[in-house]
Amino acid sequence: MTRPAWAASEADSLLSYAVRAEANDLPDLLRRFTYNGGATVEIEEAGLRYFVNEFWTAGQRQAHAIHEISYRACFKPQLPEFFIARLTAPGDTVYDPFAGRGTTAVQAALMGRRAVANDVNPLSAMLVRQRLRPPTLAAIAGRLRAIDLRGEPVAPDAPLLAFYHPDTLQALTALRAYLQARQADGTLDPVDDWIRMVAINRLTGHSPGFFSVYTLPPNQATSVERQVRINAQRWQVPPPRDIVALILRKSRSLLADGAPPAGPAPLLLTGPAEATPAIADGTVGLLVTSPPFLDIVDYEGDNWLRCWFAGIDPASVPIAIHRSMSAWEAFVRACFTEFARVLRPGAIAAFEVGEVRGGKVLLERHVAAAIQGLPFRIEGVMVNRQSFTKTANIWRVDNNRRGTNSNRIVLARRTGSG
Ligand SMILES: C[S@@+](CC[C@H](N)C(=O)[O-])C[C@H]1O[C@@H](n2cnc3c(N)ncnc32)[C@H](O)[C@@H]1O
Repeated sequence: MTRPAWAASEADSLLSYAVRAEANDLPDLLRRFTYNGGATVEIEEAGLRYFVNEFWTAGQRQAHAIHEISYRACFKPQLPEFFIARLTAPGDTVYDPFAGRGTTAVQAALMGRRAVANDVNPLSAMLVRQRLRPPTLAAIAGRLRAIDLRGEPVAPDAPLLAFYHPDTLQALTALRAYLQARQADGTLDPVDDWIRMVAINRLTGHSPGFFSVYTLPPNQATSVERQVRINAQRWQVPPPRDIVALILRKSRSLLADGAPPAGPAPLLLTGPAEATPAIADGTVGLLVTSPPFLDIVDYEGDNWLRCWFAGIDPASVPIAIHRSMSAWEAFVRACFTEFARVLRPGAIAAFEVGEVRGGKVLLERHVAAAIQGLPFRIEGVMVNRQSFTKTANIWRVDNNRRGTNSNRIVLARRTGSG
């Protein structure tokens, strides 16, 4: 029986101090790790040591409910939890420079660590901030009752009618105007901020739990033109939705397991990971992250509707897209140069690189090449395989194609004394 991912008990804290000493030998920790009796397989290739095992399970129910918002290319909470539990103690600073929906930050806060999160996309901080310190359900319900959502009737040719019933769009536009006015005059408070976070997550999706008619999953907004085609193909028109009820329902489910404990004040930044002057030198005890991979994900295309609601110009967000491997390597090097500054000597950067281009490109090898000469030592590449099987090609992508996940994580230790 494994412990739920969010259970950070006293005993765990003591244990984590003990394990932290052991974590000075991370390869040994991974080598000795067993999961459900499965031993770690160690492979040496291209000068890198791979440690392959099922290091955590895929079980959704193992993660705290407050993680449950969707974001393109997010990782599971079990990934940061694995490192936070073993490599840090309560009060330590855990940093994610490419925070996305804030999986690392939220998990760190749940475990009593100081969360530092950065993302170039301003949506990220909007998604993360209030889940670190959520308001009560009663406060959320009270605010929703108080906001005037009557608004103005929408024009019959409004493009967003491809997604929403006119009444829903009218209420949604009123909510957007309310939030933007509060933002503009500096009165947007944590309860408004929570409501905005939940509304951003309910904008579109493929079930009646979302404000829209059936469309792509919530982390991939489609275009108006494409939605018109989807509607025609499915013979559908947007049905009316009660946005207040849906926001409350989602709030209730996010808060079902409670909130993170009051811990050290988090720090949320919006900007490029390559330059984070707000983080002091040598203060980060652990970095857990997953960078943008080449040109795999179209963040602007996926986020246009969320940006509309939040009042962000997506074209103004300098999301990193690197079309060539050398450009990606240069980007990774610039990031690690900054990580070297903020990490405390001896601390680990766990850098998750995805399976890209059908497994033909092994990004961990490009990370190794990119950071040569910087004050890091690569301790290994951890490959988490769910449905772990012993195959000859144990670290390759074949598992992913069959619909199960694997994660490949470069473990780089900050060397030197500063
Ligand atoms: C793979 S996603 C991270 C997802 C995250 N691990 C989670 O669980 O939600 C990569 C993130 O990097 C961000 N990003 C892209 N270029 C960036 C840059 N130069 N600096 C900081 N963040 C950047 C994107 O906005 C995106 O949120």
